[in-house]
Amino acid sequence: MVQNKKMPLEEFLEIRKEILNQWKTGDHPGLDLNVAVEKLKSLPKEKNFAYVLRQAKAEGITLVQPRAGVARISEHIELLQFLQDEGKADFLPSTIDSYTRHNRYSNAEDGINESEKQGRSLLNGFPAVNHGVDGCSRVLDSIKVPLQARHGTPDARLLSEIIHASGWTSNEGGGISYNIPYAKKISLEDTIKYWQYCDRLVGYYGEHGIELNREPYGPLTGTLVPPCISNTIAIVESILAAEQGVKNITVGYGQGGNMIQDIAALRALEEQTNHYLKIFGYEDIFVTTVFHQWMGGFPSDESEAMALIGYASTVAALGKATKMITKTTHESFGIPTKEANAKGLRTSRYITKILKDQVIAESVELTDEIEQIKKEVDSLMHAIVKVGKGDIAQGIVNAIKNGVVDVPFAPSELNAGKILPARDIDGKIRILEFGNLGLTEEIKAFHNQKLEERAIKQNRKAEIQMVIDDIYAVSNGNLVGVKGE
Ligand code: 5AD
Repeated sequence: MVQNKKMPLEEFLEIRKEILNQWKTGDHPGLDLNVAVEKLKSLPKEKNFAYVLRQAKAEGITLVQPRAGVARISEHIELLQFLQDEGKADFLPSTIDSYTRHNRYSNAEDGINESEKQGRSLLNGFPAVNHGVDGCSRVLDSIKVPLQARHGTPDARLLSEIIHASGWTSNEGGGISYNIPYAKKISLEDTIKYWQYCDRLVGYYGEHGIELNREPYGPLTGTLVPPCISNTIAIVESILAAEQGVKNITVGYGQGGNMIQDIAALRALEEQTNHYLKIFGYEDIFVTTVFHQWMGGFPSDESEAMALIGYASTVAALGKATKMITKTTHESFGIPTKEANAKGLRTSRYITKILKDQVIAESVELTDEIEQIKKEVDSLMHAIVKVGKGDIAQGIVNAIKNGVVDVPFAPSELNAGKILPARDIDGKIRILEFGNLGLTEEIKAFHNQKLEERAIKQNRKAEIQMVIDDIYAVSNGNLVGVKGE
């Protein structure tokens, strides 16, 4: 049974021996924890994710980070240098390929060899485990900014070992957020344990004077996710991470589309993450937020795509997110070229810079929305604690199993998949079908009323067709779905 309990050092070190045996790069001398601690200690602070986030938070600015990853080290370095120099990225990523995400390292090896032969990347990301500590260290040595692994890996234990030992100071993911939206039937208890290990590793480094950043994956399925659901999962993963000793956490949220709701969601997320961490007994955790530019279907027209990127940047800046993950005009086609990637970054950075001293006026609409989201998150958190009989890890496992927490459009068979979201007439994401979601009757009545208002204004029924229209709306240039468009 999984529990929210710090993994004892001996147990961690015992599991660690097995993990390092999973692939041949696991026997690298750099994976000796004493060596890794020294390496991380010797990094300049400008290359430490946790440090740069603290600086940005103090200045109240929004920093930009792309996604990027290719198979070969030399090409990956060229790509990252381009995004740093031409794209002016504040943080760099290495997006990990799908084979590595599924622990299929020998397939990744074939992919690297074939990519070398053909002189181009045949993998959809950077296979960090195969490149090992030597390769990953070379990547870090070639750039000037902090580096993070971004992936979608249910069991990222070996990957996490290798990246941190290579000086990469942040890791994205979590036991829930890298399972339910990414896997079909991997046990949630298992992925929570795997991620407790990844967090325990960060805790170990923390005990040795090194602050590493962790980022639960906020957007989940990226499509019409009600803020209360993604915020609740981010809070739960923050608590699980804090228990293992993580001190620097960036909680994420994916753009929903309505500016007021998005700003409200970001504020509620930061305030409630801090609040719940304290309530659960974790006092000294440094929390920042990351805003993801639109994660749903993108317009194929490049001007429209760039406009959406600009809109997202506006919301991130006004929402005072500390970091923003950028998109590109190639989003609807596939993996972007480095030029398109840099353009998305520069557009984004220009807007966040120009808006950095501007503050959105407080309004009744904004404060009401913040209160609404907080009320919903409180209701879900309460329900999770209840079904976990006081344990948050057991609670989230049970809550997902019985639909008390339900992620819309998730591929996982473990997820109830009974809820249906839809937009209200302002474009705010509400809930049409609740399934077994742990919300109070008062909250449900509010959502019903909001969707009924839209139904009347659009002269249609609040039903599944509304959901379908909303899914396609943004790629067609609308926010609220229109029948037949
Ligand atoms: N390089 C750049 N972007 C990537 N994405 C996935 N893999 C890569 C990669 N190797 C992006 C997709 C989508 C998001 C989920 O990640 O384009 O925007």
